[in-house]
Amino acid sequence: MKIMVIGATGIIGGAVARSLGERHEVLSVSRSGPLRADIGEPESVDALFDEVGHVDAVVCCAASGAMSPLDTPTDDRYWTGLDAKLIGQVNLVRRAVQRVRDGGSITLTSGRFTEPVSGSSLGFLINAGLEAFVHSAALEMPRGLRLNVVSPGWVRETLQLLGMDPADGTPAAAVAAVYVDAVEGDVHGRTLPVPGR
Ligand SMILES: NC(=O)c1ccc[n+]([C@@H]2O[C@H](COP(=O)([O-])OP(=O)(O)OC[C@H]3O[C@@H](n4cnc5c(N)ncnc54)[C@H](OP(=O)(O)O)[C@@H]3O)[C@@H](O)[C@H]2O)c1
Repeated sequence: MKIMVIGATGIIGGAVARSLGERHEVLSVSRSGPLRADIGEPESVDALFDEVGHVDAVVCCAASGAMSPLDTPTDDRYWTGLDAKLIGQVNLVRRAVQRVRDGGSITLTSGRFTEPVSGSSLGFLINAGLEAFVHSAALEMPRGLRLNVVSPGWVRETLQLLGMDPADGTPAAAVAAVYVDAVEGDVHGRTLPVPGR
């Protein structure tokens, strides 16, 4: 398969690109390359598809879930993350539907906290919105296309980077296996949890 992985230079996307790359042709995308697009800027996604043509699958592991306390001083700063992670992924699906071949798949990324923590309200809103979108939009997929969203918890390598206890995280390779199943399997319209703590 020819598979576009957006966010392929990141911790999760890198592991996904490596795993899928063992059996498939992977097109690695991020704002800084090798292929460039910003999912927060739909015209750059259009240009990307114009450049690469049709694909068999699109996987999006891009963006990040910034913490936004309710008392963040400006609305613009509070809503940071909404444009790329929620609206960007929805806009990506609207475009990918036109460019993924019959029977192919689109896989997005949400995320979950073990329990709500202060400052995580926007993250919860975005992730819940994404999952609700996928469950409903799956009904509108044409030509046998499949649409799913992977919901990771803490990733071990991320905790290491943050100087936190890595034992509480799932290794990126294990997270990537869930994305591989979404691409190679037949699941459709689901939120796919990542096994782990
Ligand atoms: N890591 C975790 O513990 C964890 C847990 C739960 C959920 N998640 C979610 O999983 C996703 C990936 O997390 P990660 O830890 O792998 O992030 P990461 O290491 O920061 O990597 C993010 C990747 O996305 C790219 N990217 C960022 N913004 C983009 C944009 N607007 N358009 C296109 N590409 C963009 C980055 O490259 P450029 O900066 O060059 O564009 C990079 O390749 C995020 O949505 C995150 O919220 C992560």
